[in-house]
Amino acid sequence: MIMPKAFIFDLDGVITDTAELHYQAWKRLADSLGITIDREFNEELKGVGRMESLEKILALDPKQSDLSLERKEALATEKNDHYVDLLGTISEDDILPGITDLLKTIRQQGIKVGLGSASKNATHVLKELKLIDQFDYIVDAAQVSKGKPDPETFTNAADHFGVDYVECIGIEDAPSGVTAVNSADMFSVGVGTAEALPHAEYRVDNTTELDFDSIIQAYQSFGVSAKAE
Ligand code: BG6
Ligand code: MG
Repeated sequence: MIMPKAFIFDLDGVITDTAELHYQAWKRLADSLGITIDREFNEELKGVGRMESLEKILALDPKQSDLSLERKEALATEKNDHYVDLLGTISEDDILPGITDLLKTIRQQGIKVGLGSASKNATHVLKELKLIDQFDYIVDAAQVSKGKPDPETFTNAADHFGVDYVECIGIEDAPSGVTAVNSADMFSVGVGTAEALPHAEYRVDNTTELDFDSIIQAYQSFGVSAKAE
């Protein structure tokens, strides 16, 4: 049976749920600018890079349409400073259920584990979660020229491992992330609703359902062998 050579995990929404902390930090910034955002809007920011997220928020208010790049960078820094403060509150207890066991099983099988995140705080978050030693390689926003949905975040990790893309499995919770995995020609595992992730090649509702054997079975049925045909 063909086994994958690498698993590449998204961070926010797969390993831990930092989306709420991003939301709180963006909300405080938006409030200070007189812009209202809610959790529904926050869904649109999942997997989206820092500056692009800021642009989406500013686009809600026509009065903010001509801010200088310098001002935008200052706003993004203000949000990030607050977000990093909030990261001080997370610990191993914030690892999403099922993830620790899954990482352990993958490693026991001798399969490489990579992180593919749009966050420049990825290493910091993994350290707070005490998971840094479980990852063989980390790709964050600072290492790629094009963020998700471009495949570069995922192909960068596979290239580092020296493995074929079809031998990799990417696990993602954001629609743009699943698109990135598919565009990389890897096998996509989506964590979320069928409505949000119709393009995931294998999908679970939440991380508790991320079972190694089931993922491998799906990969062997629909992944590498199907793509090789
Ligand atoms: C992604 C999050 O992982 O990282 C986004 O889903 C976030 O919400 C993006 O905007 C960038 O994160 P950071 O930490 O570099 O601002
Ligand atoms: Mg995510």
